[in-house]
Amino acid sequence: MSDIPLVDLAAQHAIIADEVAEGWRQILERAAFIGGPPVAEFERQYAEFVGVRHCVGTANGTDAIEVALRALGIGRGDQCILPANTFVATAEAVWRAGATPVLADCADDATYLVDPDAVRAAISPHTRAIIPVHLYGQAASVERLMPLAGQAGAWVVEDAAQAHGARRHGNSAGALGHAAATSFYPGKNLGAYGDAGAALTQSDELAARMRMLANHGESRKYEHQMPGVNSRLDSLQAVVLSAKLRRLAGWNAARRTAAGRYEALLGDLEEVVRPRVLDGNEHVWHLYVVRVPDRDRVVEDLRASGIAAGIHYPRPVHLTAAFAGLGYRHGAFPVAERAANELLSLPLFPGITPGQQERVATGLRKALR
Ligand SMILES: Cc1ncc(COP(=O)(O)O)c(C=O)c1O
Repeated sequence: MSDIPLVDLAAQHAIIADEVAEGWRQILERAAFIGGPPVAEFERQYAEFVGVRHCVGTANGTDAIEVALRALGIGRGDQCILPANTFVATAEAVWRAGATPVLADCADDATYLVDPDAVRAAISPHTRAIIPVHLYGQAASVERLMPLAGQAGAWVVEDAAQAHGARRHGNSAGALGHAAATSFYPGKNLGAYGDAGAALTQSDELAARMRMLANHGESRKYEHQMPGVNSRLDSLQAVVLSAKLRRLAGWNAARRTAAGRYEALLGDLEEVVRPRVLDGNEHVWHLYVVRVPDRDRVVEDLRASGIAAGIHYPRPVHLTAAFAGLGYRHGAFPVAERAANELLSLPLFPGITPGQQERVATGLRKALR
């Protein structure tokens, strides 16, 4: 029996291979690899898809968060609140912008999203941004964070790296706050063939600053208004992203169907805490994350039966060596810490078959025995 991967990118490529080959052929012929019509076209399409006025392509998602924060004037001496349970990049981007990450625990409700009450408690006179992370494919409750940010004189910058196409009360992740950043890392719901990302906003002025910052602070050729970074979206990646964007809604629907199958297959397993969809959310199931006892052994057992299981993430930000210097102790964020010990991501991708999911469920049942 063949192994079941966590994600299957080859199957997606087979669907768009001809389109990508033709787009790349044209770029190779023109020998114009940075910017140009494919990038502008993708930026226009993605902004429209999310429902924002501006999409600024960047080299990756981490840069996109940094660029969004810096475009808002956030830097040294400022604090940005973000969840303890996220990929470390969210904290890194804050740190690279020169600001200090301040962490908040997640809600104890099997969504693993940041707890707005914990965010409120973390606000200080130095708070300049709240960064909700739309983790695993569903949006955080940004509508509860916007008033908090308003009172604190801070901005809401969404980390929408895991939520392409997700909606909250009908609006897209990435269009819920003042600005947003996303990643097109290959394994994402909308993934490039290498690194890529984008910053998003409704504001013309902010978008202009984002675009400058991402391109050496340049307003016009060799007119450098501020020290920026080199973080641009390549035209080869833009071709892939445009081809995939056309199929994204269908692929997200297939993920939803697959998540529904896991719901049915795992419903009777008392030891398994299945993921909860927050009221008002359209989840796009970037990851199907459950909580199980004795997680590390379960992962090993699954892998031994040819089932790839992931852990997102084995350590909350404050327990990484990189951010130990923030000074938080073990026990500071109990919900995130428990999640880090028990979370397990099951294989889920648009082309996963009912048979593969049944095998995953059987494997999990066996591992839990
Ligand atoms: C939640 C989250 N934030 C930020 C990033 C950073 O994106 P990138 O890897 O493109 O820099 C990622 C993905 O890797 C992510 O999952």
